[in-house]
Amino acid sequence: MKIAMIGTGYVGLVSGVCFSDFGHEVVCVDNNPAKIDELQAGRVPIYEPGLEALMNQNVAAGRLSFTGDLAEAVQGTEAVFIAVGTPTRRGDGHADLTYVMAAAEQVAQVATGPLVIVTKSTVPIGTNRQVQAVVAAANPDLDFDVASNPEFLREGAAIEDFMKPDRVVVGVQSPRAAEIMSEIYRPLYLRDFPIIVTDLESAEMIKYAANAFLATKITFINEIAALCEKLGADIKQVSKGMGMDQRIGKHFLHAGPGYGGSCFPKDTRALARIGQENACPMQITEAVIKINDEVKRRMVEKLHMLCDGSFNGKKVAVLGVTFKPNTDDMRDAPALTIIPALVGGGAQVRVNDPQGQREGEALLPGVLWLDSPYRAAEDADLLVILTEWNEFRALDLKRIASSMTHPRLADLRNIYNGTVASEAGFEAYESIGRAGLSGSGSA
Ligand code: UDX
Repeated sequence: MKIAMIGTGYVGLVSGVCFSDFGHEVVCVDNNPAKIDELQAGRVPIYEPGLEALMNQNVAAGRLSFTGDLAEAVQGTEAVFIAVGTPTRRGDGHADLTYVMAAAEQVAQVATGPLVIVTKSTVPIGTNRQVQAVVAAANPDLDFDVASNPEFLREGAAIEDFMKPDRVVVGVQSPRAAEIMSEIYRPLYLRDFPIIVTDLESAEMIKYAANAFLATKITFINEIAALCEKLGADIKQVSKGMGMDQRIGKHFLHAGPGYGGSCFPKDTRALARIGQENACPMQITEAVIKINDEVKRRMVEKLHMLCDGSFNGKKVAVLGVTFKPNTDDMRDAPALTIIPALVGGGAQVRVNDPQGQREGEALLPGVLWLDSPYRAAEDADLLVILTEWNEFRALDLKRIASSMTHPRLADLRNIYNGTVASEAGFEAYESIGRAGLSGSGSA
């Protein structure tokens, strides 16, 4: 099958590469010439484990190519995927559909059909019908169907998630579109990964509901963690005990400094907006958005307390600035709230992140970037672990503590515990939802 993928962001590029790996002939198109140049040179512009190797393998096999020319990409394709950005629109929180609609219109102008136009971007309920109307208006003679195919991959685990999904969701309104979509995903359903075929609106809703639910689950556990701190309970034990109930499940119950990333913040805001517009307020989601902001601010208070009530003149080492490990993505990362508060309060901030410096430099002015966690921690008054990169899990804490002026540790991902920190020589240890230095919470 010949497929065109419009947009080479996270979702578009991973999907394009994986579809080509299924054996389809895929052309990825982007209107950013610099990105296309990089891809044509065999380089992936984002950090995603395994993606570059898989991409180059499929390029070498002649199944995958990149172009800036949409007309060329769409020629003779049976399916065109739209995987462009749907950022939060300034002012009203709505998802900005400008790029989706522009792509649909351009496809309509150059396609010869028959084809199915598939929206992979996360889009508000009703968008696929709008796409259909835009295409039909731009090219009334075109023989086409639309389909909604939301993507659930996580950054840092994108290929694994795409190749081994919990489910594939496909929204269609014609048997022909369903057939083409089944053909595209045949390698997955032959391996028993379930495909849910539903109507357009339900498919669009599944994506928002799933992301809002996961954001709620994280926020719920973060709220319970705050109460644990007051009452002397251990959130790690609480999460474990809750998660063993199969109705709850153990995933997304890790307390932390608040969720970030390219999806949860944007999609919760968009769902809240959709609810308001339809006189059906999403009150839980609205509360989640508010509480998640408070969680990030609460982290600043925690650090403030560890710095004896003032950041002024303190040297603070921060490990990890991306919104989670195995990515270079800084979008809505807790670091963007926490580090400016440190800098604004007069702290000297020393940062180490395995991948975050390239994006982080522009977003976090006034900090010093160091190439190792040990160098970052030298002479510091406080060490903050903000992202749970694997390499931060096996630090030589003794070496770090002995190199610091005041060995204090704020472990905002709960990767260590009070006993380990104390044995390493830290005089203060704070984590999330657990007692401080004297606590014996399990790591
Ligand atoms: C998410 C969804 O998981 C994915 O299905 C969707 O397609 C895109 O959005 P992603 O943003 O890549 O994926 O990362 P994810 O692993 O879900 O983490 C999101 C945020 O939640 C991160 O900031 C992470 O640190 C935080 N998180 C996650 C927690 O704080 N606790 C958890 O238990 C899980």
